[in-house]
Parts: sequence; structure tokens; C-alpha cells
Amino acid sequence: MTLPKSFFIGLAPMVDYTYLSFRLLCRENGADMVFTEMIAPLGLTKANPKALQFLTMTVPEERPIGIQLLATTPLEIKNAIKFLAQNGMDENYDVLDLNFGCPSARMHRLNAGSLLLKRKNLDIFEEIVRVAVDYSPLPVSIKMRLGYDEITILATLKKIEELTSDLAWITVHLRLAEEKRSGEPRYEILPVICEETDFNIVANGNFWTIDKVRWAKEIGCIGVLIGRKARNDPDIFNRIKKTLTGRKSLAEYSRTFFYRRLLYYHFRYFGEGKYFLYVKRIATELLKGIPEGKQYRQKVQKSSSFKEITDIFNELDQKKENVMNE
Ligand SMILES: Cc1cc2nc3c(=O)[nH]c(=O)nc-3n(C[C@H](O)[C@H](O)[C@H](O)COP(=O)(O)O)c2cc1C
Repeated sequence: MTLPKSFFIGLAPMVDYTYLSFRLLCRENGADMVFTEMIAPLGLTKANPKALQFLTMTVPEERPIGIQLLATTPLEIKNAIKFLAQNGMDENYDVLDLNFGCPSARMHRLNAGSLLLKRKNLDIFEEIVRVAVDYSPLPVSIKMRLGYDEITILATLKKIEELTSDLAWITVHLRLAEEKRSGEPRYEILPVICEETDFNIVANGNFWTIDKVRWAKEIGCIGVLIGRKARNDPDIFNRIKKTLTGRKSLAEYSRTFFYRRLLYYHFRYFGEGKYFLYVKRIATELLKGIPEGKQYRQKVQKSSSFKEITDIFNELDQKKENVMNE
């Protein structure tokens, strides 16, 4: 399998969400590319086999897929890459993505993720990129933010350019690490980034509308990644793509339809009893942005079986049908 050759709209990696079943749901609704959630290098080499199997589980029909490693230290990244190759896992993926964007509190303890965008850590950042490019059997991509507490991205890109031109792309989440995921992304800097660097750029951060995606394409990005919005609107990929190519929009699917597809994949690959919490999380998201959604979400929160959640979605569908027949 190869990476997308033209402008692509991918599903952004999200801890606790972008596992196999949800990725398949997004792929069948137009996502051109998906990623595992970030995996800590030590988690890869030292984790208990069951947890690791779940995090890394993939099937050929979801390709192209990137495996994402949390950027920690050069040695850990090197060992993780060796581990992937020794276990033949690299063959299941199309790109190795390094996460320099995670701003969570845990990163402070680990000096990892977006902490590596601090000026004082840029040597470590560079060394990780070098090690990854040197050792990875897969193409390497990077996911990063504009900087830690100040915009340092242009200087950082220059440094990487001195080191290698050998990156599949760089995904830029258009916020500082300190801004987490709130506030308007700093869109104004994207054209400057595209202009100033020879790297392929993938845009990220609220690229949820046709206008924004079209704009990213026009200024020269090779793709965009969509994260949070895909959780309650998994066919956002198809809708945007259809409009971009001037084709008619697809039929609108109901949230219940998406839930059923998620469950289909879940039961197919994990069996009926397992990883209930994952389905519950996405079911809750699917109930956002609809009339009386809060009430349905509360019911899902209280539920403790697949059947209970399925009944809630069936009730939702029934109600919709009654309204339509009135
Ligand atoms: C619950 C959650 C988990 C996330 N986990 C990851 C992750 O594992 N790796 C990563 O690179 N980004 C992660 N992100 C960030 C997203 O990939 C994305 O950069 C961010 O949500 C902005 O995109 P959006 O505005 O389309 O949601 C996560 C975001 C959320 C909301």
C-alpha cells in the first residue's frame, strides 16, 4: 500500500478514540488515511502483550495507516523502531509518525511530546528526527505544533531542513502547545509555513469546513487531518471531498447508522464482549449535536452493555421515524 498521492483528508490520531473499529468507520466514510493513537516507545517495547496488541491492531483494508510514536528520547525511539522491524510490525503500516504535539500534563514528567519544541530541547528534537530517519524502515512523518509558548516553527523547520529532506510530510497543528486545543487556530501562519519550507505540509486544527480545507489545498498543503469533529460526524470526509470535486453530496446517514457500522466492525474484530468502553465513548460522541442529545448521552453514560447502547440508538431512530411520519 502506498501513501496518498494527491491532496488527502485524513483522520487525526486521538488517544482512546482512533482504534481499529473507529478508524474503519472513518475510512469507509472517506478518510484517505488513518493513524493509530500515539504509542509511547517504552509502551511498545515493554508493554503487556494484550495492551500492545490492542493498540497496534490493524487490518489491510484500513490502509494507508500510520503508526504514531510519542517522541520521548532518541534512544527510546531507536529501540521502538528496532522492535517494530524485528517483529515484522513495520509491514502492517505505511508511515511512522512522530508526535511532537502532545501538550498533556504527563509530558512534563516525560519531557516528551510538545515539550521538545521548547528552545532548550531542540537538540533532542533534532536527534529524534535523525534517528527515526536513519533507522525506520517506513517513511517518517512528524506531527507538531507551532511551538511551545512562542512561535518557533519556522526556525525548527529550518533546522530539520539542514538535517534531512527525507520526511513524508510534517503535520502542523496551528496552535502553541500551551493553547492545548482551545481558541481559534493561528491560520494566518499557514501560508508563511507553506511558503518558507520545502517540506510537504499537512494542516490541522479545526479544518472542519469545506472552505478551510479548500483554502489549505489552494495554498499548497498536501492534506489536512480532522480530529474531534470526525467523532460525531464520521462522514465529514466524504462530504468535504464530494464538494471539493464538485460532485453531488451523499445521502445523509443517521447517527444510528454510524453506530451500527461501528458495532459491526467492533464485533467482527474484537468479539462481542470486549473493549466496551471504546464503543461507549464513541457512542457518546455520536450523540452530540442532535436534538435531545444530552438526554441520550446521559443514558449511554449509565449503560453497562452493548445491548443497552443499541437500544438507545434504536429508540432514537424510532423517534425520528415517528416525527417524519407525523
Ligand atoms: C481525545 C484526544 C486525543 C488526542 N490524541 C492524540 C494523539 O494520540 N496523537 C496526536 O498526535 N494528537 C492527538 N490529539 C490531537 C489531534 O490529533 C489533533 O491534533 C487536534 O485534536 C486538533 O485537530 P482537530 O481540531 O481536527 O480536532 C488528540 C486530541 C484529542 C481530542
